Amino acid sequence: MGSGPLADALVSCLAPRASELAAPALVLVLAGSAADLDPRFDEHLAALAQNGGGRAVVITEADEIAAEALVGDTRRTREEVLRHWPHRTARLATSGVLLNRISVGASTLLGHEPMLVRRVQACSRGAAGLSAGAVAEAVLALLHPRNTYCVGQELRVDGGLGLHWIAPAASISTLPSHRTVPSDPARSSDPARVLVLGASSGIGAAIATAWAARGAEVILAARREKELGEQLDQIRAAGGSGQLYSVDLGTPGAARAVVEHAWEELGPIGGLVHAAGVFALTSRDEPTRATLDRCMSINFLPYAEAAQTLWERWRGTGTSGSIVGISSVGGSRAMVPHLQAYGTSKAAMDHFTRTMALTMAAQGSRINTVAPGLIRTRLANAVDETFLQSWLARIPMGRPGTTTEIVPLASYLLSSRSQSVTGQVIALDGGFSLPNLPSVQLHRRTSA
Ligand SMILES: NC(=O)c1ccc[n+]([C@@H]2O[C@H](COP(=O)([O-])OP(=O)(O)OC[C@H]3O[C@@H](n4cnc5c(N)ncnc54)[C@H](OP(=O)(O)O)[C@@H]3O)[C@@H](O)[C@H]2O)c1
Repeated sequence: MGSGPLADALVSCLAPRASELAAPALVLVLAGSAADLDPRFDEHLAALAQNGGGRAVVITEADEIAAEALVGDTRRTREEVLRHWPHRTARLATSGVLLNRISVGASTLLGHEPMLVRRVQACSRGAAGLSAGAVAEAVLALLHPRNTYCVGQELRVDGGLGLHWIAPAASISTLPSHRTVPSDPARSSDPARVLVLGASSGIGAAIATAWAARGAEVILAARREKELGEQLDQIRAAGGSGQLYSVDLGTPGAARAVVEHAWEELGPIGGLVHAAGVFALTSRDEPTRATLDRCMSINFLPYAEAAQTLWERWRGTGTSGSIVGISSVGGSRAMVPHLQAYGTSKAAMDHFTRTMALTMAAQGSRINTVAPGLIRTRLANAVDETFLQSWLARIPMGRPGTTTEIVPLASYLLSSRSQSVTGQVIALDGGFSLPNLPSVQLHRRTSA
């Protein structure tokens, strides 16, 4: 829906790949000089809800100054669609409609002034010029048939614009020397070797298996050697390749050592996933300092250590890569009492991601975080039953997620298809982190 250069370019990019999209799905383009908008977006969403659900993506400008330049219908429709966004998306989720948003950076493709494009590129350290191909890849990721637990999120295809880099004024006028993004991200190369920390079960094992099936050599790291071996056997039986490292990542320096050994023994590593983690509530039985140490030393510090080590390698070899951390909605929400150690370790992951993204941007490497809600894994099984039931009752989609629902978006962020996306934290939580849930529950009960 919508017309204009971006909408037209998207249609050309997406038409040959229609079979990769979930159906039914709606895409509304509200960026650039779109005209002739279909004013019945809400009616279409309502029709999806009545017919048992579906997917929708709205594409808007990431830069508010650029959005101010929008005129007439486009601007009004943008304001209308974004008004009450969290409440609207949460309510739709109860009817099976998953609405998400893509925010795009500046581009002459959108009819923006070249000076605005320069300013925006300078603010993103020149990391990305927006291409229709990059936006199409984001649409494909959100409308992936198995991306069925992501709702109400904003995916910024903006080269890091949202990181608020304080660009030296001089960099705006010298911008032409900066890199531009190839028009077809799918043709750039994906990491051929991927290190997964926390690969012996759950989310890490699912991502490792998926990347092995894509042809990458996967390096599996965690403590339980037997479970790692079983994962590797399955990967090899399916025709994939990999190696395993049995390691306690809670030991200072262990994450750095894994990266260094794997790089030396196997060759350059282009992708890192940090899915190692423990859940813990502070309690009277353990000193708070001990709980904090445990959460920070497994959830956060190996992530920072491995990312820093890889970045040094990438810089030293003139290469680049991509990193994905698995944090948690607990990093941005105070969900239950005594979550301070776990929650703080996940918040540390999220903010490390933002700051590291800016540090790495000029050199072309990227880092993003996926923040799951309640996902059926060994870790979630360890959570108290009362807590689980209360949590479930507050999820607009009304169910926990599965590891396979984490894989599509995590894989997109790890791949070169997301090369204009960095420093982001995307929740995959069935709408849990959207506000005003009591009214959502009321709606669900009434409509049941
Ligand atoms: N499941 C959820 O509801 C949920 C929600 C939000 C966030 N998350 C996050 O998702 C990530 C993956 O968890 P999961 O749900 O997939 O649970 P999981 O199956 O228990 O996976 C946790 C992984 O971390 C590894 N690990 C734990 N301590 C380690 C240590 N000291 N050294 C090395 N590896 C260690 C485990 O391997 P070993 O035991 O073999 O060492 C395992 O591979 C975690 O960071 C978790 O916080 C999960």
